[in-house]
Formats: sequence, C-alpha cells, structure tokens
Amino acid sequence: MKSKAELRKWVTELTANLERFNYEYYVCDAPTISDSEYDRQFHELRALEEEFPDLRLENSPTLRVGGQALDEFGKIKHRIPMLSLGNAFEEKDLFAFDDRMKKLLEADSGRELEYHVEVKFDGLSMSLTYEKGELVYAATRGDGETGENVTRNIQTIRSVPLRLRASGDKKLPSLIEVRGEVILPLKDFEKLNREQAERGGKIFANPRNAAAGSIRQLDRKITASRPLTAFWYGVGACEGCDFESIDEVQKRFSVWGLLTGQYRKVCKGPAEVMKFYRKIEKARESLPYEIDGIVVKLNRMRELDQAGFVSRAPRGMIAFKYPPRQETTVVEDIIVQVGRTGALTPVAILRPVKVGGVEVRRATLHNQDEIERKDVRVGDTVFIQRAGDVIPEVVSVVKEKRTGKEKPFSIPEWCEKHGIEFERKPGEAAYRAKNAGGELRKRRFEHFALKDAMNIDGLGEKIIEQLLDEKKITTFADLYRLKESDLLALEGFKNKSAQNLLASIAATRETELCRIIFGLGIRHVGERTSKVVANAFGAFPALLEARVEDFEAIHEIGPEVAKSLREYFGSSEGKREITELLAYVAAIPPRKAGGAGAFVDVTVVLTGTFPTLSRSDAAKLVEDAGGKVSASVSKKTTFVVAGAEAGSKLDKANDLGIEVIDETELLRRLGV
Ligand code: IVH
Repeated sequence: MKSKAELRKWVTELTANLERFNYEYYVCDAPTISDSEYDRQFHELRALEEEFPDLRLENSPTLRVGGQALDEFGKIKHRIPMLSLGNAFEEKDLFAFDDRMKKLLEADSGRELEYHVEVKFDGLSMSLTYEKGELVYAATRGDGETGENVTRNIQTIRSVPLRLRASGDKKLPSLIEVRGEVILPLKDFEKLNREQAERGGKIFANPRNAAAGSIRQLDRKITASRPLTAFWYGVGACEGCDFESIDEVQKRFSVWGLLTGQYRKVCKGPAEVMKFYRKIEKARESLPYEIDGIVVKLNRMRELDQAGFVSRAPRGMIAFKYPPRQETTVVEDIIVQVGRTGALTPVAILRPVKVGGVEVRRATLHNQDEIERKDVRVGDTVFIQRAGDVIPEVVSVVKEKRTGKEKPFSIPEWCEKHGIEFERKPGEAAYRAKNAGGELRKRRFEHFALKDAMNIDGLGEKIIEQLLDEKKITTFADLYRLKESDLLALEGFKNKSAQNLLASIAATRETELCRIIFGLGIRHVGERTSKVVANAFGAFPALLEARVEDFEAIHEIGPEVAKSLREYFGSSEGKREITELLAYVAAIPPRKAGGAGAFVDVTVVLTGTFPTLSRSDAAKLVEDAGGKVSASVSKKTTFVVAGAEAGSKLDKANDLGIEVIDETELLRRLGV
C-alpha cells in the first residue's frame, strides 16, 4: 500500500503525463505512446481520483469527459471586447488598405509596411482565459461584449491545453485572454452529417454551423463525441505580457502548447500579401478544414495600436475573402444510392456547373425529410454549395424560377418502381433496403474484400458483379466454394487470373478476428470499433451470445454502436452468416496482454529515435506481444529501449540500474 505522499506524487505524474500525451497527439500530431497505454493511464488516474478526491489536481485531464448536463450556459463578460473585421474582396481593396495604413502611420514613402498574414478559419470564435497558466474560462464571442460560458465543453477538446506549458526563459502571464477559432475538420463534418442523416438528426449546412452546434450543447458528452479542434491567433486582455508583434504572440502560443495555424507569414508590403493570398487560394482545395479568406494584420503591436478602431473593428486588420463556393444550377434528375448497410440516400443529378473551379454534377440530398424540408423537385433551379472535398449539397430552391413542371420526388415511390423492398424504422430518417437487393449485396462483398478487412486481392467491383449475376455467390462463404471452372465460365477470366483470385481467397482462410468483424460491414462498426470488439470478446461464440449491455460495457462503445452490434450478432441471419463462414475461415484471436505473448509481465520504456520503427509501431509490437509500454522509468521497468538522442529516461535507467537495449535487440526478443 502506497503512502498518501507517494500517491500524491503518482497522481501528479499521471496528470502531467496525460496532458503531455494529449499535447503530443493533438497539437504536435506525433504521439509517443499507443492509444491503449493512454487509456490505461487515464483510467488509473480516474480511479485514484475517485478513491482520493482530495488528490485531484486542478485542471486534471479527467475533467475532459463525463459529468452532468447543464440547464443553461452562464454569461461571461470579455475583459476586452471581441471585435469584427473589415473586408476586402479584390486586389484593389487590399492596396487601398495598405495606402490607408501608410498615411495613418505616416510611413516613409519608400518603406513597405510589415503585415502578418494567415488563413481565416471558418469556425466559431472563442476566447480562453488562463490565469497563472490554468484554463479558467472559455467563452463564445456572443455580442462581442459578453459571451456564453462554454468552459466545460471546451475542456473536451483535446488540443486545448488545460494548463499552458511553461517555458524556461519567460514567465507565464498572470492573466491572458487567448482568442481563436473552434473548427470541425471537413472529413469529420462530412461523417457527422452522414450519421445525422441516417438517424434523422439535424443536418448542418457547413462545418462552421456544425462546430457551433457542437459547442453549444448543454450535454458536454455530445461535444466530446465530435472531433473538434481549435486554432489560436490573438490576445485580448493580458497582464504580464509585452508582445511586440503578432508573430511573436503566435510563436509564444506554440511554446505554450496552443495550436496555431501552419499557414502564416510575415510579408513586406501588399504585393507579397497578394502572393500569399493566391498561394492559399490554390491550396484551399486540399486543406483539411474550411477557410473563407486570409486575415491581414499590421504585424507590429505599436502600429496596430496607433491605427486604432473603426466601427468595432481594428483599423489595422482586414479580412481578404475568397469568392463563395455557391452556384445555381438545375436538378435534372434524382436518383437513390444504396449504401453498404442498405441505407437509401437520395442524390440530385445536376446540370454540370463549376463551383470554386471544380465541376459539380451531383449533390447529396441526405434523406427524404431533407428533400421535403427544402422542397426540392426534379427540374428545380437550386443553390448548391461545396466545402472542400465534401460532397456538394443542395442548399435551397430558387422558387421564383419554378414553371410548374417540376416533379416532386419520393424514395418510397422510387423503391416501388425499382422493385426494392424498403423499411423505415421509427425514429430513423433513412429508408433502408430490406431485401439484400443486388446493389446492397454488391456493396457488402466489396467491403468484405477491402484491404483492411479480408484483404482479398483481385476481388473488385466488376468481378463481384459477374459472380453475383451468374449466381456463383450469394453469401460470403460461397467465395470459399468457388472452383476454377466457375471463374473460367465468366467473361474475361483466363487460367492465370482465375488461379490468382482463388489463391487470394485461399490466403484469407486464416484471418484475424478484428478483420473478419470489420469485413462483415455491420452498421456503425468501422475498423477501430472492430479491433476494440475483437479484443474484448476474443472469439465469435462469445460475440454471438453478447447482450447490448455487454457491448456497452466496452470502453469506446456507445449505445448506438452497441445496439447495432447486437442487432447483427443477435439476428438469425447474422448467426447463420458467421457459422457458415467459420466452416472455411479460422479467426485468429487477438493477442492480449496477459495472454500467451512473449512479453507478458514485461514493462518497457521507449526513448529516443529508432533506426527503423516509429515509436508507436514499437509500442504496438510490445503490446501485441503482451507487454506494457510505460512513459516513465521506474523500478517496475523491465528494460528501456533507447534510440538516437535518448534523453533523461536513459539517465534514469542507468541510475536505477535498469537494462538498456537497442531496436535490434528489441526485435530479436520479439521474434520479428
Ligand atoms: S484576427 C478583431 N485572425 O474572423 C478580430 N480572426 O470576421 C480579430 N477569424 O471574429 C480577429 N480566423 O473570429 C483573426 N486568423 C484569424 C482568424 C480570425 C478567423 C474570425 C474571428 C473574427 C472573424 C472576423
């Protein structure tokens, strides 16, 4: 039993470790430990805090999850108001801004002014207040003077430091208001809308609305489930700061662990700013988040102050916008796509139109409720919008252009016309194909063959279609019953290609459990969930027996996913599908800590850079062999694996007399 002092030290260490892991993962994008080790330490800290509440440190990382929902948000008055920006839309507006600044600052005619330029994030503006380095509040912009207290929700964003990282040379300010923007990356936005469409939730018009909607949740569990992040660019009130430039502010933010935009530059004069604007406009298509322009600011604080304000905007800053990516076009037809799980998604076929430089021919209509809400009909002229790589969507109908010839669309009618049996469960917005109609079955086979699922090389869309059409396959197990003569009977197959495909199929006769689970294409069950489920159950018989509660008891699995797992594994079709498949395929059980691995009871610390393995790969190998990876060296450490530039951990190992090995020796011990 540890003494209270030892426990306190342990809690402090765990708290610091976990915040460092968050920083490495979410800010630096360079994790140093595996997810499972993070989870382990997190649960250990939570258990300790529950047992000894007095040991909980202020701003513990366990604050980031759980807790009761609120009835309403409190109000917070900003110490310095959150202002807005003037706009520029064209090159000449930018040059006019530069002229104004030169006059105002009485700059010598030969001197170019120094501008700090960066992207304008299209999200929700936010102000964080840190006192002595600790996050004390987070507030929305509100009316600029007073915002809403969303501290508990901001705490769930893993890239937001709960405590600023102190750096050697400069002291942390006693108080600082940090200003920035909370955003939802485009990929996550798209995924969220897809999920919302399936369950009949609110569809968000753009990532900004989705970010705002996610923050303004009284139940922070909903916020926590949305992969939000934030970029920080400016300062409101500050006690104990003496920044000379915006550039210095942002560099200091990085030191403190606050995420700053990576696209920024200090430019001399408007011509350089113009170059940056054009460069970002090109890159805009491939940015992982939405931006709507660049922000140009006088870089020097003294000059910004001197420029003053005009109608609630700093005169020394300007937003230089990109043209909006909305256009009008005509809906020529509406079709329905059948998803892997049978979900029926209506899609508008458009008269081709260029939006932000890219030709758009289709746009999603999400579901029947959305079609009705927007009242979209075939023949309508509509506004469409595109955000980054996101599938374009129909925003609204230009009703003035109606001629009376437009035709309303309904999924049920479409299904009847195409002989597809459909259903709509209470509480769901999506119609679903009931019969495993051709399209649905094809999707399931395509998914089953994926590289990260069964990895059947050569089993592509076209071959699946042929095999289905010729009734050579109806179930997954049929794949394993295929004979060379079956394949040779199909168009385009030669001896060689037939043998290759049969060999690829045969190679999957032993496959890891998690890949099989993923391959089954269960609704809401992606690769990560499949791994978690495989680790928790270890084999199929246990899965077929599991109740919803058993699934829900697994960390990382929520009620909806649990329900979907149970619906599949508990159904007679699911049971039949698996039993039949297992006659041909052996499921390799996950290697678990405590199992028969070579590293059972071994605790390893990784430090430095290894010649061939990344740290996370090394950690995974150790864990797969049943070992534990720990972040710090202690008496419990079995050995330390040291790479180039190993630091204090190596010293500590030497002090404690713990064995130190290199990567080659690690691989030898792992038997790989
Ligand atoms: S500086 C006086 N920099 O744009 C406000 N703002 O349209 C100074 N925004 O309210 C803001 N990215 O929420 C600045 N890199 C950036 C920005 C940015 C997005 C937002 C901000 C502001 C709004 C003004």
